[in-house]
Amino acid sequence: MGTANRKISRAKRLNGIVRLPGDKSISHRAGMLASIAVGETRIENYAASTDCASTLECMAALGVEITRRDGNVVIHGVGKNGLRRPTGALDCGNSGTTMRLLSGILAGQPFKTTLIGDESLQKRPMKRIIAPLTQMGATVSSTDGRAPLAIAGQRPLKAIEYHPPVASAQIKSCLLFAGLFADGETAVFEPIATRDHTERMLRWFGVDVTADNGRISVTGDAILTARDIVIPGDVSAAAFFAIAAACLEGSVVTMPRVGVNQSRRAILNILQSLGARIEVSTISKVCNESVADIRVVGGLGSNAARTTTVIRGETIAKIIDEIPILAVFGTQLEGGIEIRDAAELRVKESDRIATVVENLKRMGAEVTEFNDGLRVQRSELQGAVIDSHGDHRIAMAFAVAGLLASGETEIVDAECAAVSFPGFFETLESVVQ
Ligand code: S3P
Repeated sequence: MGTANRKISRAKRLNGIVRLPGDKSISHRAGMLASIAVGETRIENYAASTDCASTLECMAALGVEITRRDGNVVIHGVGKNGLRRPTGALDCGNSGTTMRLLSGILAGQPFKTTLIGDESLQKRPMKRIIAPLTQMGATVSSTDGRAPLAIAGQRPLKAIEYHPPVASAQIKSCLLFAGLFADGETAVFEPIATRDHTERMLRWFGVDVTADNGRISVTGDAILTARDIVIPGDVSAAAFFAIAAACLEGSVVTMPRVGVNQSRRAILNILQSLGARIEVSTISKVCNESVADIRVVGGLGSNAARTTTVIRGETIAKIIDEIPILAVFGTQLEGGIEIRDAAELRVKESDRIATVVENLKRMGAEVTEFNDGLRVQRSELQGAVIDSHGDHRIAMAFAVAGLLASGETEIVDAECAAVSFPGFFETLESVVQ
């Protein structure tokens, strides 16, 4: 990853059309499931992010032929029995989703694999998937629960009923993927509902997924049949532009064809309830996912919150990736914002509670850190040097903060934005006025 810095100055307003990259979460699932489907899947708008490239590289190393045709990714699926032992370690780069979801598939293979990742990924907790995969019969070795992971698969795996200790779509997806290779019905009980792209994508490929009151299950006899996919724009990427536009009076930003799946769109609902003028229109269903056009008009409406808004509990899992930018938004709200029950943020690409607090303080904001969150007061932001800690969402959140701040803001290691949004800074420049 490059280390280039980016300078940002205060903006008057944002104006124009923003075309977002394909949704990162959905792209990972499309890349992995198309690989074990029978037949050819053409994926339109596959995320151009380095994380999603890691997934395709891993699948190619497992013997799947992946080509490009007319700007689309074409995956020549090998079926559930067709993956081959790779010649070297599988490199997941910075991508926790690649490592955790792919582990579920690898646990069901009749060969050994090793998964490696960059410095950040090697710090992230993997026991959460190692424990259940071990119960299912795979042998997974790690360095005290961290990558590199060496997985000796077993076929068939033992079907289990599992209650994850944390609400995580990655744990759920890992186990549902492993369940495709198990000797019966594998069920995951979600303590709190998380994004359901895995369930939707499995169904798209013809798998019977049962979801009943938080119990989600698949059976090991499922067969996946290739089917073309169109990936919607990434709503987590939309959040940066929606908040920047909402904070700058006179802005009008349109984002066509964005994913507005109920388990992901909570950020839009929250912004609307805090006074942001966001219109979600022309909703349609594409490949089992809801897609819509989003239009944001600058300036907070008369319903803008005047007292501290506290966000906690079940909502947190639904906005987990948007919390850094939501904290920046908090500096513009009369009553500020408080986020609790979000200790998971400490084990993301960076410790996002610490990195948000540190950088907001650098910009002169009044902020309090809690073990499980933070409180931000309304603050006049001043330009500062921002350390992204190599975390894409920190780099992008503070680029938006830079648009709202006096003076100049410099984002160190801004290139990491490419982990989810290559061209983020160019896209931002194209709408800044
Ligand atoms: C993701 C789930 C979330 C999220 C990550 C992507 C997914 O992680 O933070 O960026 O695609 O399933 P957890 O499920 O571990 O909270």
